[in-house]
Amino acid sequence: MRIVSGIQPTGNLHLGNYLGAIRNWVRMQDEAAAQGGECLYFLADLHALSQPHDPKALASNTREMAAALLACGIDPEKSVLFNQAQVPAHAELQWLLNGTARVGWLNRMTQWKDKAGKNREGQSVALFTYPVLQAADVLLYQATHVPVGEDQKQHLELARDIAQKFNNDYCAPDAPLFTLPEPIIPREAARIMSLRDGTAKMSKSDPSDMSRINLTDDAETILQKVRKAKTDPEPLPADKADLEGRPEAANLVGIYAAVAGTSPEAVLGEFAGHGFGAFKPALGELLVEKLAPINARFLELRQDPAGLDAILRSGAEKARALGTPTLHGAYAALGLLRG
Ligand code: TYM
Repeated sequence: MRIVSGIQPTGNLHLGNYLGAIRNWVRMQDEAAAQGGECLYFLADLHALSQPHDPKALASNTREMAAALLACGIDPEKSVLFNQAQVPAHAELQWLLNGTARVGWLNRMTQWKDKAGKNREGQSVALFTYPVLQAADVLLYQATHVPVGEDQKQHLELARDIAQKFNNDYCAPDAPLFTLPEPIIPREAARIMSLRDGTAKMSKSDPSDMSRINLTDDAETILQKVRKAKTDPEPLPADKADLEGRPEAANLVGIYAAVAGTSPEAVLGEFAGHGFGAFKPALGELLVEKLAPINARFLELRQDPAGLDAILRSGAEKARALGTPTLHGAYAALGLLRG
């Protein structure tokens, strides 16, 4: 069992990241340890170059995101925590995989289509080839499982396609180089939506901070964001099917269920017939109760940038060692002459 996943260090860690991915990262680090496996979790700082970014802010954002992950329960004694930029093999393997990935495959990526919109010509090459780097991120370590939210499923399927084609084209049938990774997507909370628009994903890049709950928000801010979340005038139904066509209501019920560790049906069992005047304060208090300890740990950890740097440096050293055999295998399979 080799678990690998990443997060971009742009903006804050939000509730969508936490419920969709990071909670599983924490859970899986114990499962992997019990089975003699390993977890590698990284800050995808190379991915941040695909969109305009502020070089002065990137290093401190990377440290802050590391602090947020540690605050959520990632334990550097159990997991390898690092940032991509300290492991050049990610970028090297991406180049080697560029010969295998097809332009048509990348053209079909919905994230590319969404982010580029009508202005494809004006985008960076990195935004287009981003999924090849993501494939390199997991294939480099022979990942068996990749815990992610629903929005990354297509990128993982692409990674499998690249691995399969590379294995077919350059390896003997009984000695494939790459393992095909399985996405691990939570059944509930795979896609948390914006608090301002129940049809848009909760996202770091939404210009409105009111659209998301950041794990760094204090109690007052969380309560205010929930109070102001968009809703409709109807009371909550008894039956989950009746949330159909009410995306904001469905999202808030889904968040409550995921945070409380129960099902949307059970939440409706408790709140059916009540309006948002009653439901929102209950949701706000639940969020504050669950997020306050994470917030407190985060504030403490971010005070120690040297300590965070040391954790990332030591993680990167381990990651470099773990990735070396596969990188060498890829150079050899492609017939590249080295020393
Ligand atoms: P990123 O930084 O956008 O998000 C990090 C993780 O959070 C999940 N997520 C969500 N889950 C549920 N609801 C939401 N609203 C929501 N928003 C984000 C994402 O699915 C992701 O699991 N390309 C990746 C980072 C990456 C990566 C990788 C992931 C780079 N290389 C290799 C896995 C393996 C990204 O931008 O995630």
